[in-house]
Amino acid sequence: MRRYLIAGNWKMNTTRQSGVALASELAAAAAKEEAGVEVLACPPYPYLLPVGEKLAGSAVRLGAQDAYFEAPGAFTGEIAVEMVKDCGCQYVILGHSERRHVMGETDATINRKVRAVISGGLTAVLCVGELLSERQAGQTEAVLDRQMDGGYSGISESEAASIVIAYEPVWAIGTGVTATPEQAESAHEHLRKWLARRYNAAFSEKVRILYGGSVKADNAESLLGQPNVDGALVGGASLKAATFVPIIEAARKLAAGG
Ligand code: PGA
Repeated sequence: MRRYLIAGNWKMNTTRQSGVALASELAAAAAKEEAGVEVLACPPYPYLLPVGEKLAGSAVRLGAQDAYFEAPGAFTGEIAVEMVKDCGCQYVILGHSERRHVMGETDATINRKVRAVISGGLTAVLCVGELLSERQAGQTEAVLDRQMDGGYSGISESEAASIVIAYEPVWAIGTGVTATPEQAESAHEHLRKWLARRYNAAFSEKVRILYGGSVKADNAESLLGQPNVDGALVGGASLKAATFVPIIEAARKLAAGG
């Protein structure tokens, strides 16, 4: 069975103080390694170190929300993979819809970042997902295929083992509108089939595919209970322990057999 990954994407939120306070609550809520559930917190860059210090000794992993593909050098304002690694990150979120649609990142840029993260020894959380207009036009699967073709370009099976996918329909992010468990499952199944075609069926079964988009305590169990949903990438509800920990608990319950 695939181990659930419950990831908090704090986006451009928290202060040093509130981020550190949240980290201590998370460290207490996920103090020990668990076979069925892994927990990840992705704070803004300036808080990676103090948040990482609070998480040290707990089972909560640290992740960054992006990283640049070049080695350290003259790239004003950018952050290198080895820098986030140096701060204790094990994961890097890449291709988030806000990076794609607000910052204008292309599949080609995202692919370079994915390759840099993997060669730096970290795990990429590669986000894919369609806009509302694309869903309404019946293009969801074509959009996912294009983003997967782009994101995985030039990546071997052994490298692809360091990628977790996050399916995040853009219309469900921060809107309070969640994909139904059936819509999520259908997209996840499509992504797994893509992996089976690109690599092989055995490999595709090992890859974790997270769902993201208005995940909350009250919808977590039905989403995580779908056969191809292996975790959640949580934005808004990850900013408070009171709303994030119940999502971890939903995964624990399912991992323990429902
Ligand atoms: P949300 O964000 O949970 O606030 O919808 C999810 C994400 O963008 O990763």
